[in-house]
Amino acid sequence: MFRIGIMGCGWIASVMTESLKKLPGYQVAAVASRNKEKADAFANKHCKKALRFGSYDELVRADIDLVYVATPNNCHCENALTAIRAGKNVLVEKPFAMNLEETESILREAKNHDVLVCEAMWTAFMPIHKKILSWIDSGAIGKVLYISSNLGYEISHNERLTNPEMGGGSYPDLGVYTTHFAMSILGEDLRPTSCYARKINTGVEKDVFYTLENEDRSAAAAAYVTMCAKTDIGGDIIGTKGRIRVENINNYEKAFLFDGDRNVVESVERDDNAPNGYALEVKACAEAISKGRIQTTEMPWSRTAALMRISDELRRMM
Ligand SMILES: NC(=O)c1ccc[n+]([C@@H]2O[C@H](COP(=O)([O-])OP(=O)(O)OC[C@H]3O[C@@H](n4cnc5c(N)ncnc54)[C@H](OP(=O)(O)O)[C@@H]3O)[C@@H](O)[C@H]2O)c1
Repeated sequence: MFRIGIMGCGWIASVMTESLKKLPGYQVAAVASRNKEKADAFANKHCKKALRFGSYDELVRADIDLVYVATPNNCHCENALTAIRAGKNVLVEKPFAMNLEETESILREAKNHDVLVCEAMWTAFMPIHKKILSWIDSGAIGKVLYISSNLGYEISHNERLTNPEMGGGSYPDLGVYTTHFAMSILGEDLRPTSCYARKINTGVEKDVFYTLENEDRSAAAAAYVTMCAKTDIGGDIIGTKGRIRVENINNYEKAFLFDGDRNVVESVERDDNAPNGYALEVKACAEAISKGRIQTTEMPWSRTAALMRISDELRRMM
């Protein structure tokens, strides 16, 4: 049995715990909150057999195979380092950290302690994501020229999104997905070329439109993310011989492969009975650990660092 310990008993922790119930051989073996009663209440509701701790320090000393850091963005670095220094493998929620400096410190420490670290970019582990990459690798749409995507929800009531101290802003919460969507196809040398952001009175951006291009200018991407409106959350990948349309770039629902005459030649749909992206990212961590690896193939450290470099550059441009 692969044993997961959850750090922070909030919303995403509950979603992860429920998701893992569909994955045989995996269990949430321990949960930790800053408050023991909250850990008890969480475990009673979601994972009755789990050990319960009233501090994160106790969790990292427990008999677990992987710590899942499910705390606010501004806590990721400190929490990940606590786990790593206790010799634990760690899956860290997105965005991985507040900036590139924090990101590099986590990765350096993981290397020094020879433990796995992975950013919980759940889309990277989804079967439809892999299908899209295989269509592109096969040459089905020719050379990719341009990618566009958008991601927007009405979530501006959530303090985690609006409070700069907690790493708020539309980009850290949503832009990481649109940038990851483009980067997984165009490569890690993407750089921002423009950025148009509008801010709320706390100083964080309520929405942002930005563009990226790769170093040789062979391809570009544009994205819009917002915490103030529901958008169509779709993505388009335009190639010289065809294109791909993706429905829901945050939790792939369907993808369509079009030929150069605008005919659908293949499509793929999400299987809601199969383990979801949250369960699959844990499974990928377990498989990497079993092979003695400290990175997953789906979400390598270079990708995490490149995403954070772009985040830093965009935040400077806002
Ligand atoms: N992958 C995805 O699809 C996805 C979706 C949503 C969120 N996320 C990410 O998951 C992380 C958590 O988001 P969430 O929506 O689950 O947030 P949340 O409901 O507020 O939960 C965060 C938990 O972190 C703990 N915590 C530790 N220090 C804290 C502090 N100073 N202030 C507040 N809470 C603190 C709290 O747990 P205790 O009180 O038990 O210690 C809290 O319940 C974020 O980084 C977010 O970007 C990912």
